[in-house]
Amino acid sequence: MTGGSLLELSGVHASYGRISALRGVDLTVAAGRIAALLGPNGAGKTTTLNVAAGLHPADRGEVRVGGRALTGADPVELARRGVCLVPEGRGIFPNLTVRENLWMMTFAGVSRAAVEEIAYARFPKLAGRRRQTAGTMSGGEQQMLSLARGLATDPAVLLIDELSMGLAPLVVAELYGLVVEIARTGVAVLVVEQFASTVLEICDLAAVMVNGRIERAEAPSDGLLADLSALYLGSAT
Ligand SMILES: Nc1ncnc2c1ncn2[C@@H]1O[C@H](COP(=O)(O)OP(=O)(O)OP(=O)(O)O)[C@@H](O)[C@H]1O
Ligand SMILES: [Mg+2]
Repeated sequence: MTGGSLLELSGVHASYGRISALRGVDLTVAAGRIAALLGPNGAGKTTTLNVAAGLHPADRGEVRVGGRALTGADPVELARRGVCLVPEGRGIFPNLTVRENLWMMTFAGVSRAAVEEIAYARFPKLAGRRRQTAGTMSGGEQQMLSLARGLATDPAVLLIDELSMGLAPLVVAELYGLVVEIARTGVAVLVVEQFASTVLEICDLAAVMVNGRIERAEAPSDGLLADLSALYLGSAT
């Protein structure tokens, strides 16, 4: 299913004390679509996701979810409205078991049984690992758990930060295959990636962020990939 805009950021500014991180971000993700937010270190990608998830305040601008203004809502409220963040660095609790990690998602108003059922239906591999300590699983499995936690709340908007970090290309491709399946169910997906080649194969829209602003937003293409490489090399100097 594809349809109206589920997530809309308009004119969003955000800062850390006197450091300005976002300087007027406009971004829209429709139901069933995957948008990729790309750009060099420090561009403001994570901050954008955190503002959308209610973890960081916007100084100006608006966040709308399903057409409803939710600027300034707290993360629990946003989770209840269907916004889910899969944070950078996996965001799981390594000393808890797989199922205990899943149970924590009941804060969003789903039962323990339902959380487990949804997770294992989507990630059968996790079912056999339910009593394993999460930190002892492979990187790819941990990232699966992280995605499973996100999906447990049956989100309308899924925000994913650096899914590929530290994982082998084959594992990344497998995880992105799952992201495509999730989007096909009507979820609006916003993925942040620094290394763009994999995500450009699956996204509908590629937005390039530089210095807290979206400089380009267009359909993915080889030309864009080449420009991104140049941008990253340029930013490293
Ligand atoms: N907690 C913080 N305190 C102060 N400044 C911060 C904080 N978090 C981020 N910043 C600054 O805000 C800007 C945007 O950071 P952000 O983490 O959103 O970038 P990013 O695009 O996700 O980068 P990366 O690709 O390295 O993850 C950077 O200049 C960063 O130094
Ligand atoms: Mg980041």
